[in-house]
Amino acid sequence: LITSVRLRRVLDSRGNPTVEADVLTESGGFGRAAAPSGASTGEYEAIELPPGEAIANARKRAVPRLVDEVYAGDQRAVDAALHAADGTDDFSDIGANSAVAISMAAAKAGADVLGAPLYQHLGGAFRGDNFPVPLGNVVGGGEHAKEATYIQEFLSAPVGAPSVEEAVFANAQVHAAVGDVLDERGVPAAKGDEGAWAPAIDDSEAFEVVEEAVSRVADDRGFDIKFGLDVAATELYDADDEVYRYGDEERTPEEQVEYMAELVDEYDLAYVEDPLDENDYAGTADLTEKVGDRTLICGDDLFVTNVERLQTGIDEGAGNSILIKPNQIGTLSDAFDAVELATKHGYDAVISHRSGETEDTTIAHLAVATDAPFIKTGAVAGERTAKLNELIRIAEDAV
Ligand code: PGA
Ligand code: ZN
Repeated sequence: LITSVRLRRVLDSRGNPTVEADVLTESGGFGRAAAPSGASTGEYEAIELPPGEAIANARKRAVPRLVDEVYAGDQRAVDAALHAADGTDDFSDIGANSAVAISMAAAKAGADVLGAPLYQHLGGAFRGDNFPVPLGNVVGGGEHAKEATYIQEFLSAPVGAPSVEEAVFANAQVHAAVGDVLDERGVPAAKGDEGAWAPAIDDSEAFEVVEEAVSRVADDRGFDIKFGLDVAATELYDADDEVYRYGDEERTPEEQVEYMAELVDEYDLAYVEDPLDENDYAGTADLTEKVGDRTLICGDDLFVTNVERLQTGIDEGAGNSILIKPNQIGTLSDAFDAVELATKHGYDAVISHRSGETEDTTIAHLAVATDAPFIKTGAVAGERTAKLNELIRIAEDAV
């Protein structure tokens, strides 16, 4: 039984406060987890409250439903108690930040009681033995950096890597190679929230730079490395004028679909996230129809880890992949439900960090537990390497 739930404010990687939870059990199990936080958040995400408020409300309403009531190892019961305590459909009472921190901390306490690693507790004996390929953000802008690219993220995708370790180091090498290519071009660059280079260059030049960096590292390593994008197109879309704005350049929704399809073919993109506005299922379906046979079209802001939104996407043929961010929906059970629905309909689930992160490594375990083909967790910054290094450790005994 859970005997104590402690909640506190800790720092995230942007220097903002976030919620951390400790869960203790009667038999001595212990789990600690912290909520991440987005900057280009989807309109339909569960609600992140100011941490102080989220903590106060969770102490009042969630903690009493957990302590001496629920087993940490019974994840469904923990998450049902969080929903019951909250009483809304978007966690706007206790906050998705309190909910996800408690949900993940309980999972870790449950694993601790069993003496099993978290991926094993969550995934069970019958999970597969594939490893997730890390997508590494190497160049970016959008909401994650000022005066940088319009497309939010250019992601290294080491699809030919023979191991997690090789893939992780390949992404770090691509990140370094991008730095070299920018240097050679005399382009100074700061870094964005996830540690990606954030140069003040046009998107078209960013494509050249990333293509060059990826091909250098692929040659050096001797395996295939592709790249992909998180367009985060909602942030570019002007809903009043119904155009996507790239600075002075405008594209109608139809032109946006064409542009994305051209990029997929020109750069052999392995992955395209949120190519259209978060309300545009039809446009996303058009693009999926055009290029979905040769790339992943992934919904982040489109699906927000929500089974109802994903079901709409499935019905309309929008996308062939879903981004899974536990804090978008509030609990691990809800995140697993989204993975399960996706997998049942042939959608790939991609497990993801947020732009605001902590040292918490739960998503590395989640990716292995769910047999996810990809995990998106940056390339080199410390709060990103925490997950990547955990993946290397997991692979040592699991895959
Ligand atoms: P966010 O961005 O965490 O700032 O929402 C990441 C993403 O869009 O994938
Ligand atoms: Zn995204």
